[in-house]
Amino acid sequence: MAQLTDILIPNIGDFDAVEIIDIAVRPGDKVKPEDALITLESDKAAMDIPAPAAGTVKEVLVKVGDSVSEGTLILTLDEDGAPDGKTPETGKPATPADDATATAADQAGKTREDDTDVPEEPPPTAQFGPHPAPRTPTGAQTAGSSASSRAHASPGVRKYARELGVDLGLVKGSGKKGRILKQDVTAFTRSVMTGKRVSDPSTVPEIPPVDFSRFGPVETRPLPRLKRLGGQVLHRNWVNVPHVTQHDETDITELEAFRRSKKSEAERRGVKLTLLSFLIKAVVVALRKFPEFNASLGPDGKELIYKQYFHIGVAVNTAEGLVVPVLKDANLKGMLELAQELEELAQKARDKKLRPADVEGGCFTISSLGHVGGTGFTPIINSPEVAILGVSRAAMKPVHVDGKFEPRLILPYSLSYDHRVIDGVAAVEFTRALGKILTDIRDILL
Ligand code: COA
Repeated sequence: MAQLTDILIPNIGDFDAVEIIDIAVRPGDKVKPEDALITLESDKAAMDIPAPAAGTVKEVLVKVGDSVSEGTLILTLDEDGAPDGKTPETGKPATPADDATATAADQAGKTREDDTDVPEEPPPTAQFGPHPAPRTPTGAQTAGSSASSRAHASPGVRKYARELGVDLGLVKGSGKKGRILKQDVTAFTRSVMTGKRVSDPSTVPEIPPVDFSRFGPVETRPLPRLKRLGGQVLHRNWVNVPHVTQHDETDITELEAFRRSKKSEAERRGVKLTLLSFLIKAVVVALRKFPEFNASLGPDGKELIYKQYFHIGVAVNTAEGLVVPVLKDANLKGMLELAQELEELAQKARDKKLRPADVEGGCFTISSLGHVGGTGFTPIINSPEVAILGVSRAAMKPVHVDGKFEPRLILPYSLSYDHRVIDGVAAVEFTRALGKILTDIRDILL
């Protein structure tokens, strides 16, 4: 049996003559207990007046802008009969100031906005003046995400947040038990728009999109898939790992002479002997000497996992983007074997034939741009590895030896390392040791 109930403004604490800023229902609307009927706003807070029971709104007796106090009649509700035949509890309407009432409704997921059967309306794009709408920072949940829906806020505040495109998961509530109030959403929006918001350290503010066509003709092309996926990994590693890059250089005159002397012999065996195979071998020797460079941080960041194997990744440039095949057990292989395997893996990479096993298990990565040029760069660590070597182009330079300048072939290289694991002194010791091995490759035998 339905029954008509007058819905009055309940006890709203010390507030008197509070303005109605929103009316969420119209005659004929069906409501559930705790659905917001109207929203009030005083100079201190915003609050929803919730439906005390399920039913159909018969008549709305107030309008936006009206001032109301405790006892003001706001609407009439045709209450539904309870499923078990009992008349639903219609006593006093719930008190919005009573935080526990709304909390229970929120937790039970009973609000209209939380009801998964009702599709969430897409947040309208808020535009303030010429600026683009604030966008959700990378890594943060989007509106309607679980963090947003778990946020402790009334339906009216949720509606307000949706209208502004604000993710409640990012807003800090100043109400009782951290409840998000309307003024919190307003303050959040204001801080984003004025650029004053100090973001959650776990989120990164996004770069606002730019309409480049305003400045001249443009052509938009899709990024290759590999670049898009690789880009995500590079970004993840760049923002998660505190990088420091140590630059160094070493004399490889003798090494290059040795390589050239062995080049034709290698070619006869069908192998292209480049500098990279020597670098891989030298890196293995340095990793043995400095085991923390051949380690990874444990998942909780409290342990260092030392690897007893030496799998070296090598960055290979392909038309689709960068890939890093891994040469397994580089410590157990000879120079020609390494050169041959490197060539095969690089070819597989370019032919898009690498298997998952070819790209996993790396301990340390070498990224060589030496065949192209450059004097130094900051390679991004291939996490969970803790260091990466970037190699630039060797060049002849005058070096002061025994009182006179001599032309020597100098190789510049850059080591990026995870500063949580490796100290600056260790990094310099590593690059120095590596330089020494490359200058006198016979050190590999030791
Ligand atoms: N200085 C001077 N010459 C160098 C050099 C250096 N640092 N590194 C390589 N060379 C030389 C080689 O010895 C070779 O000389 P050669 O023809 O006289 O024998 C020549 O340059 C060409 O080398 P290349 O065929 O490219 O072989 P490689 O073993 O040096 O490199 C790959 C192989 C697959 C790693 C390389 O082709 C590649 O793809 N590099 C891209 C890495 C990259 O994009 N990194 C991203 C950084 S963010």
